[in-house]
Amino acid sequence: MENVAAVILAAGKGTRMKSGLVKVLHPAAGRPMIAWPVAAARAAGAAPVVVVVGHQADAVRQVFHDFPDIRTALQEEQLGTGHAVACAREQLADFSGTVLILCGDTPLLRAETLRELIATHRHEGAALTVLTAVVDNPYGYGRVIRDRAGRVTRIVEQKDATPEEQALCEINSGIYCMEAGFLNANIGAISSDNAQKEFYLTDLVSIAAAKGLTCLGHRTAAAEEIMGVNDRAQLAEASRILRRRINYDLMCAGVSLIDPEHSYIDGSVTIGPDTSVHPNCRISGTTAIGSGCVIESGVSIDDCSIGDGCHIKAGSVLEGSQLLAEVSVGPMAHLRPGTVLNDHVKIGNFVETKKISMGAGSKASHLTYLGDAGIGSNVNIGCGTITCNYDGVNKHRTVIGDDVFIGSDVQLVAPVEVGRNSLVAAGTTVTVDVPPDSLAISRVPQVNKVGWRLKKK
Ligand code: UD1
Ligand code: CA
Repeated sequence: MENVAAVILAAGKGTRMKSGLVKVLHPAAGRPMIAWPVAAARAAGAAPVVVVVGHQADAVRQVFHDFPDIRTALQEEQLGTGHAVACAREQLADFSGTVLILCGDTPLLRAETLRELIATHRHEGAALTVLTAVVDNPYGYGRVIRDRAGRVTRIVEQKDATPEEQALCEINSGIYCMEAGFLNANIGAISSDNAQKEFYLTDLVSIAAAKGLTCLGHRTAAAEEIMGVNDRAQLAEASRILRRRINYDLMCAGVSLIDPEHSYIDGSVTIGPDTSVHPNCRISGTTAIGSGCVIESGVSIDDCSIGDGCHIKAGSVLEGSQLLAEVSVGPMAHLRPGTVLNDHVKIGNFVETKKISMGAGSKASHLTYLGDAGIGSNVNIGCGTITCNYDGVNKHRTVIGDDVFIGSDVQLVAPVEVGRNSLVAAGTTVTVDVPPDSLAISRVPQVNKVGWRLKKK
């Protein structure tokens, strides 16, 4: 929508979170809570967006570091929602249009709902429109007072309300739409003459009504969307609803979730059709998964790129890794950052990798550590192989050519290179480079002392 700005209030501490971290930075479905209403405002077309920061201001600013259309305004002392909006005025000095005002702790708010709010506000030529909802338990919220014609005349806070007012079930969501001219002309008129000695933004409603300006209440049926998060129980509830939405969209796009209530997938993740995700997986960050993959139970994937037809078996952990097509990993494998696995690579159980590349068709099927290594294609890495990459001071590289066969229980003391098509015998400790097409073997010859045990007794 054209000519819309947004102010998002996020200066409060969030005392009921009982946390060292300011409330709006607590993560909800993979993003700091504040990022959700900001995204909704931007998706509704708001620019600029001004975030009012106070507690842990620098940390909150950091969230928007890469977004030039998001500005911040500092509210040094939290003197109330009216005072918070006044702090944002300077950032909007050159703006004349419609201003959305939102709270940083409403992660469920959708852009569609904001668009509806703005459309109603503009259609009726209102000075101020407040988003309201009718709820079963209005305790704690501001109540919406309407006149006989249905116009909103006042909002009264819980602590200032009479028993009759407290019985009203239409609440103020804390989300508003107002004309910049009206806002600028009247924000200075708000006083702190109330039970909490705070500057209430809601006073703008009675100010507009007293001047005979149109003041609307836009009632939304989506009461869930305006749920404010005040404590950790509400945070868990909001996160669950966000995950449901993400999971629903994935299923609509052709992804099978065996148990969507137990699938923890961030909104930033993409997954192709015909991939199935089993219960209790956590998939986060910039992860992109192709089509036709199987992600078994208890898998954790962060910042990975996974090609089509891959199979990630139960209990594996994948971080910052790139898998091409038809790769098989796990069960219980750990791919650490910098792992690159080409087509048809197989990584089996209890294998750990870090900063390695493996060419097409190579295998490390069991109990192996591969770090700082460049491994060719069609290489077999036997059970118990270790790249000894660290000498206590520096990391060193291991290079293994195409078609190499590494037997079981081999240590490769880096820096070391095994040439293409060589075979390293089981139990060998490789300390010098192996030329191509060779056999490397380093073992103490076996001695059998017959009858030795009988003599001991
Ligand atoms: C406010 C509304 C109430 C509404 C409710 C909806 C007022 C006076 N009351 O009450 O009618 O039903 O929201 O959730 O507006 N904030 C600042 N600076 C301040 C004070 C608050 O940035 O000085 C921010 C908070 O961080 C929070 C938001 O504004 O994100 C709302 O503040 P809060 O104190 O939670 O308001 P409520 O008492 O819930
Ligand atoms: Ca609140």
